[in-house]
Amino acid sequence: MTTAIVGTGGLGSVIARQLSSGGETLRLSSANNESARRLAAEIGRAAVVAIDNRDALQGAHAVVLALRFAVLKSVIDEIADLLTDKIVVVPSNPLTVDAQGNVLRLLPKGQSSGEVVAGWLPAGTRLAMAFGTLSGALFESSSNRSPESAVLFYATDDDRAGAEVERLIRTAGFEPVKVGGIEQSGRLEVGGDLHDLVVGSTEARSLI
Ligand SMILES: NC(=O)c1ccc[n+]([C@@H]2O[C@H](COP(=O)([O-])OP(=O)(O)OC[C@H]3O[C@@H](n4cnc5c(N)ncnc54)[C@H](OP(=O)(O)O)[C@@H]3O)[C@@H](O)[C@H]2O)c1
Repeated sequence: MTTAIVGTGGLGSVIARQLSSGGETLRLSSANNESARRLAAEIGRAAVVAIDNRDALQGAHAVVLALRFAVLKSVIDEIADLLTDKIVVVPSNPLTVDAQGNVLRLLPKGQSSGEVVAGWLPAGTRLAMAFGTLSGALFESSSNRSPESAVLFYATDDDRAGAEVERLIRTAGFEPVKVGGIEQSGRLEVGGDLHDLVVGSTEARSLI
């Protein structure tokens, strides 16, 4: 199957590598497409560079918006009319880095990225919050763990989005565990009790 990855920086590139290792075909785009071109060259035949963000979605069943929270709304507005028949996967934590390198939260405590992003998407969009629970390095080192796969938590209100994100999580080498609906997505984000946890499914289910 084909997944679009919009944003091929620190996290998007790790997601792309893991999905392509699992057999997924990818369409990549980034701000100026340089990082997308480098990544596609590294991955090989399984990845193509799209002309732009809208082109990345052509023929893709799902799209991962691996973007910083501050640019997410403008990219959603750019591609909104193409999202109705896609599964939209968002890993974004509501953070930014200031000129001094300090990491700042962009939303009030208690408000999650998932709830805000759901409000930015066209009504009826099939959204799953996933792939943002682990740092890129931890994501890469924990995938295809044996003997017991590590868990990736996700949140969604939509059954079809749930089925598709579970397939993507397995393709990336993890065991999917649903934490609940989008109203639970804060648990996965920075500051949430399930963020940055590498656990197997028994422990994961006991934490839900
Ligand atoms: N990095 C992590 O370890 C990690 C872990 C968990 C969650 N997350 C979340 O994942 C998201 C991405 O983080 P990151 O660390 O990967 O950020 P990043 O390294 O800065 O990468 C951001 C990517 O977004 C692309 N981009 C910016 N504006 C764009 C636009 N208008 N259209 C298309 N692409 C655009 C950039 O393109 P260029 O490459 O062309 O500049 C870059 O590829 C964040 O919301 C973060 O909270 C990150």
